Amino acid sequence: MLNEEIYMCAILYVKTLVEAYEKECISMCGSSPIRLIDYRIKSKESIAKKLEKKGYCVSDKNAKEQLNDLAGIRVVCVSVEQVYRLQKFLEKQTGIEIIKEKDYIRFPKENGYQSLHLIAEMRDSVMRRKCRWREADSERIRIEVQIRTEEMHRWAQRDHKLFYKNG
Ligand code: GTP
Ligand code: MG
Repeated sequence: MLNEEIYMCAILYVKTLVEAYEKECISMCGSSPIRLIDYRIKSKESIAKKLEKKGYCVSDKNAKEQLNDLAGIRVVCVSVEQVYRLQKFLEKQTGIEIIKEKDYIRFPKENGYQSLHLIAEMRDSVMRRKCRWREADSERIRIEVQIRTEEMHRWAQRDHKLFYKNG
């Protein structure tokens, strides 16, 4: 079985970093650069659907190895500038490593979708410190971080309802 606790731990770790960034900004310039933080653990149904779409058998092993978004966190910022500032902030943090980036802001998808996607990997040591799980569970885990502006977020939500999940 997938250990959902580990993924929630990763989500909360990144959320804490984003909140630390927010606090820093508020104390420096008096206003928050962040409008919304949302997160989710991918449902079993979505995991199965995505693995099948990618041509893999549905198994926990394949889910862990092949999917980067079992854990996902989305941050809505007040401006594009703030999206990239938050990216820089996250890149500097010691507990996580950004291993992949897709910049759909500079290079929007054909349908118009815009967002900055980062795949962050948690180091074992951090995860062990944060959550007290068995050695066997302490592999590195990845989390998808989506950062976008409010306008991009509204567009994506409308698109998601109308088209995205129905192909
Ligand atoms: P998925 O299989 O859809 O997860 O795509 P991927 O693994 O190739 O990664 P990608 O970075 O392209 O997209 C990851 C996530 O971004 C999706 O699960 C959605 O949450 C979001 N996303 C990507 N493209 C679109 C889009 O066209 N519309 C909307 N609403 N969301 C999108
Ligand atoms: Mg997805």
